[in-house]
This record gives sequence, C-alpha cells and structure tokens, in this order.
Amino acid sequence: MTQNLAATSRPAAVPAAVPAANASGSRGWWRDAVIYQVYPRSFADSNGDGMGDLPGIRSRLPYLRDLGVDAVWLSPFYASPQADAGYDVADYRAVDPMFGNLLDADALIRDAHELGLRIIVDLVPNHSSDQHEWFQRALREGPGSALRERYHFRPGKGANGELPPNDWESIFGGPAWTRSANPDGTPGDWYLHLFAPEQPDFNWENPAVADEFRSILRFWLDMGVDGFRIDVAHGLVKAEGLPDIGGGDQLKLLGNDVMPFFDQDGVHEIYRTWRRILDEYPGERIGVAEAWTPTVQRTANYVRPDELHQAFNFQYLGTAWDAAALREVIDVSLDSMRPVDAPTTWVLSNHDVTRHATRFANPPGGTQIRTPGDRELGLRRARAATLLMLALPGSAYVYQGEELGLPDVTDLPDEVRQDPSFFRQAGQDGFRDGCRVPIPWSGTEAPYGFGPTVGGPSWLPQPAEWASLSVDVQTGDPTSTLELYRSALAVRREHPALGAGTAVTWLDTPEGVLAFRRDSAEGSFVCTVNTGAEPVRTTAPGSVLLASTEVVVVAGETVLPADSAIWWAV
Ligand code: NOJ
Repeated sequence: MTQNLAATSRPAAVPAAVPAANASGSRGWWRDAVIYQVYPRSFADSNGDGMGDLPGIRSRLPYLRDLGVDAVWLSPFYASPQADAGYDVADYRAVDPMFGNLLDADALIRDAHELGLRIIVDLVPNHSSDQHEWFQRALREGPGSALRERYHFRPGKGANGELPPNDWESIFGGPAWTRSANPDGTPGDWYLHLFAPEQPDFNWENPAVADEFRSILRFWLDMGVDGFRIDVAHGLVKAEGLPDIGGGDQLKLLGNDVMPFFDQDGVHEIYRTWRRILDEYPGERIGVAEAWTPTVQRTANYVRPDELHQAFNFQYLGTAWDAAALREVIDVSLDSMRPVDAPTTWVLSNHDVTRHATRFANPPGGTQIRTPGDRELGLRRARAATLLMLALPGSAYVYQGEELGLPDVTDLPDEVRQDPSFFRQAGQDGFRDGCRVPIPWSGTEAPYGFGPTVGGPSWLPQPAEWASLSVDVQTGDPTSTLELYRSALAVRREHPALGAGTAVTWLDTPEGVLAFRRDSAEGSFVCTVNTGAEPVRTTAPGSVLLASTEVVVVAGETVLPADSAIWWAV
C-alpha cells in the first residue's frame, strides 16, 4: 500500500527562528555551522614521525574548504606529556613540539581564515597535567603551600591517612584520588583526579584558577581563534565538602547522572564570565560545551543567552537507529533549546565514542562497542543518519573520517593501545583508540598518505581495507560516502529551508519511517528516513535532491529503501 506523507496534526509549535543579529550585525554563523573535528594526532603527518601535526593540518585545509564545512575544531595540541592524548595540558600557551610550534598555529589560523574557515580550539579547564608547573610546585612545596589550593589536596581517611578522602571513582576506572608523596618522600595528602592520576582537577573555588583561564582565553582569542570547545564543561565545580556518593555502580562512562562533581549549578557563573570575554572580541567568537548531563533540558542551561553558544547533544548521539526513538529525541532537543534561543548541536561521532558506522552495524548497545558487526549495514545506516542529522535545524559536528565512512578499528592489538581508560580498567573499556586511527588519504600502502613516506609509521596501525576508503579513491565516485557528504553540505548551504531553525513539521508515516518538512519563504524541503529493514512504498513529496542510496521515482511514487534517507525539494 502506498503511504501518504501528509502533515500530522501536531505542527511545529514555533516558526523557524530568524538568526539573531548581534551588536555588529553579524548573522550568528554558529546557529547553522557544520563544524569538522580534527584530531591532530590522526589527521595528517607532515614530518613522517607517525604522528599528525599542525603543518599537516594546514596542508589539508583546502580539502576541508572543498568538503564544505564552516569551521574546524582542533582537539588539544598544547604542550602535554600525552597521558590522555593531549587532554592533560602542561602549558596552555604552548604547542607541543610533536605538533609544531606557535608559529605553526598562527599560520594555520591565518590560512584557515583566508579559506573562509573558522578555527575552534579545545580548552581543558577541569584539570591540568600533573606536569603543569603549578602542580609540580605544589608537590615540591608540600602541605601548606598556597599552590595546593589551586587543586584538590586533602588528607586521607584512616588511622594513617591511608584511605582516599571520599568514595569518588575516576571516569577511567579506579579511585578518583591518588596519594602524593611529601617532599621528604613520606606518604602525604591525596589529590583529586576525575580522569587519570596524571590529570589533577583544578579547584575552581580558587580565584587564581579563574584568573588564569580568563587569561588563557584571551591569549588564544588574540591569536585569532573563533572559539573554544570546552572539555568537561560540566565538571569544573564540585559539590561543597566533596560529599561521598555512597555505593552502587558509581560511574558509567562520562557520568550520565547527577553527581557531586558533575553539572553543579555553580559552573554557569564561570560561563557567564567567559561569555563577556568572548563578546569583547569582534566576529562572534563562540564557546561549545562538552557537557554530559542527564537530560537535554539540563544541557540547555549551558547555552542560555548569557552563557555559551552551543552544547553537544549527546542524547542524540546515543540514540539507536530507530525511527520512534529518533523522533522523540529530536522533539525533546528542539523543545529544550527553543526557550533559551540556542541552536541544537547535533553530533554522531567524536574521538571518545565508537564511530557511528560501527555503532549502527551492531545491535543497539550504547556508544562503546567492541565488535565490527555488519559493516555494510552499518555504513548504509551511517550514510542515512548523516543525511538526517544535516537536515535538522541547528548546527552539526562531523568527526574526521566519518565523511569517508570509516568504521572503528575493533581489533587493535593491546600493545599499540594508548587510551588510559584501557589500562585503568584492565582492558574492559578501552575502545577509544579504535576511533582514533589515522585517516587514509591516498595510495595503496599504509600510511595511505597520512604521512609523507610510503611504508612510513603511523601511531596506530591502519587496516589494509582502508586503502579502498581513501580520499583519493572516493573523490569523483558519485556513490562514495565522501561525495555524499560533499553534496549534502553543498545542498545544505544552498537550500533556503535548511540550516538554522527551531522546529520541524512531522509528516504522517508508517512505523519505522520518519518524514519531516522544513519551510521557508523561498521553498520547502522534506527529509524521509526509513530505519526499518524493509523497503516502504510512498508518494514522492517532491523531487529528489539527494539520497543515501539509489532511489527511483515513477509517476509520483517511490520506494524508501531499507536504512535510507532521502532529501526532497518541495
Ligand atoms: C573529554 C575528552 O573528549 C576526552 O577525550 C578526555 O579523555 C576527557 N574529556 C578528559 O579530558
């Protein structure tokens, strides 16, 4: 039976928002921006040491311009001992020599701007490296040093202070406290680290910490960056007295629950201060929160008009490939962001979760998946999921390599792994290396153009099959995932109904199918998505703009293939 795609009785509550103009009259570029995440270790290696670097990224900027993204977010490239791949910063104003130097950063920012790309850098304010000068001096100076107030040092419990000060667990496994040694070598106070022991948490109650980060913000804003992705944005403020949590399976990755160390109301005051600094600079510099909160409603608090601009929608990222579940999370997300006038910020993959091509290749099971699953199915769904994401109102993030349809590498040998969570949890949860493997650019032999030398090193080994997924192989092939992304981003730029907005109009659909319309004065757009395993016959709502797989329209009727998405001009 042919299904009609008629509008439901629940039309959009509010018409599409007009992008807010700021004082300088600029259009709110971040409300609909597509932002590409570069993971510097794994993007492009200019000097052949097996590790990506800033000159490598710089050389590939034209690729990103041609892909059609608006901005690039760079994961940390700062001076760091790399205990957590750079999320352990020893000097916030220096580039780690393995990535280059400040001149390289300057050249990268300038080149990007010349190409019309904005640059967002990562800011890691929850913790520093244990090699940070403040922490090292705090250790050397011993108990009583004022520098210890900049972190959370506490005496231990038990007769000899041999027990941690409270029951918090580290997100990477094990206790969230490590006992320090006194300058004379005797066991001393404990310090808090929500992540690895090499990542001591800052004490944000200490004014020196807040001052320092305001200065770091200005340092990079003066360098010309267009914004900051704020790491663990929900963790800076801890509940007063650092109270025990009290039993149970405390931390399930990135704490999706209310915890005395996550999503405390006090964090918002920090972002209000930062917003004032961002607004002092021309060109709409932005902040995007990495805030794992229990609900999208709580996430909306981070993007109130006087706080940050965007916050990743992790509830969406974690949603299974299921029409009903997707529709619900889309509605809740749009409804939650509307009152604070912030764009929803969609994301499907990043450097912390299993790539969506692999997640959707497996039965639903969260964001950390061990098995390759059905690769073909995963890719088909991933392509459809991307078209769905890019059709939704708001901004979207693309993680390097997803435009090539890369899967996670699920069979990395343990000896090459570097993710601290793998080691801290005795191999139980060490999946993040699998989404961090250097991407293939060209050639038939590893490192597939990632580095300059055929047969040269890459810090994680690339699978042999990646030769057929390289940028070179996919370029010009109209069926490739790369060309699908290029086309989708081009259509998204051109079509007046796509991009910023606050609502969609759902159309009636059979089970397992999603269809929504977006309207503008210059034309309407429909996206249809079939998340089911069977093709569904429907009326064609218009003419096909783009499809994640082959489709045929005959006499106003079409078939939505299983696991597919189609964009229609109406
Ligand atoms: C979130 C980052 O994305 C992740 O890679 C890192 O391990 C933790 N924050 C700690 O900084």
